[in-house]
Amino acid sequence: MSKELYAAIDTFLTASLIGSDPLLDAVRESCVEAGLPAISVVPTYGKFLNLMARMLGARTILEIGTLAGYSTIWLARALPANGRLVTLEADPKHAVVARTNFRRAGLAGFIDLREGLAVETLPGVAVDHAAGFDLIFIDADKPSNPTYFTWALKLSHPGSLIIIDNVIRDGRILEPNSIDPSIQSRRQLFTLVANEPRVSATALQTVDAKGHDGFAMALVL
Ligand code: SAH
Ligand code: DHB
Ligand code: MG
Repeated sequence: MSKELYAAIDTFLTASLIGSDPLLDAVRESCVEAGLPAISVVPTYGKFLNLMARMLGARTILEIGTLAGYSTIWLARALPANGRLVTLEADPKHAVVARTNFRRAGLAGFIDLREGLAVETLPGVAVDHAAGFDLIFIDADKPSNPTYFTWALKLSHPGSLIIIDNVIRDGRILEPNSIDPSIQSRRQLFTLVANEPRVSATALQTVDAKGHDGFAMALVL
């Protein structure tokens, strides 16, 4: 199996099940125009996040790692009229692009983008959202994933769902002696999740236009 085949199947699935969505296409284009990295989730993954939020009846969503707001918009579209999404972004340049995209999507009123390092903005989020979030999507700097998982637990309630992106990285997750801190942290993350009695978790490998990766998912008990 080649990355070209993954990408071709991804294109087929997107055309079949999602179709053209000018707003979301423009958000992807905004990444290219602004020179942001092409690491937004693919459309089928965005739709997956949207369906998960709808299945949960999520009214509050937390995202760590906004970029241009592509996954944010998929998630925010699942919210009811009184819903709220908090998204955390460290890079001011990404935040500017994302805010423009939220306005274009007509979703600015639902989305609270907090700029700064997530470890610095999370304490304030905890104060403002003491009841926790129904869905938490972790998709930022990978070495901090164990820290973010711990925060996600703190910011959850029974029935919350925590989804963590990029846990497979072309199989590099299997390298116990990797000197890459982002691989070490992913391995720590699995240990942390596995030993956490307050969640029941799984992880799925994915192949798509971005290659071979996957996500972990933990239901808070
Ligand atoms: N969720 C987005 C992609 C996020 S890419 C999507 O799928 O559309 C990861 C983002 O996390 C980048 O924009 C990066 O600037 C941001 N980031 C990196 N380190 C961070 C930190 N310490 N705190 C908050 N955001 C961070
Ligand atoms: C990277 C980050 C992501 O969130 C992603 O989905 C893919 C790649 C990266 O930093 O390389
Ligand atoms: Mg990601």
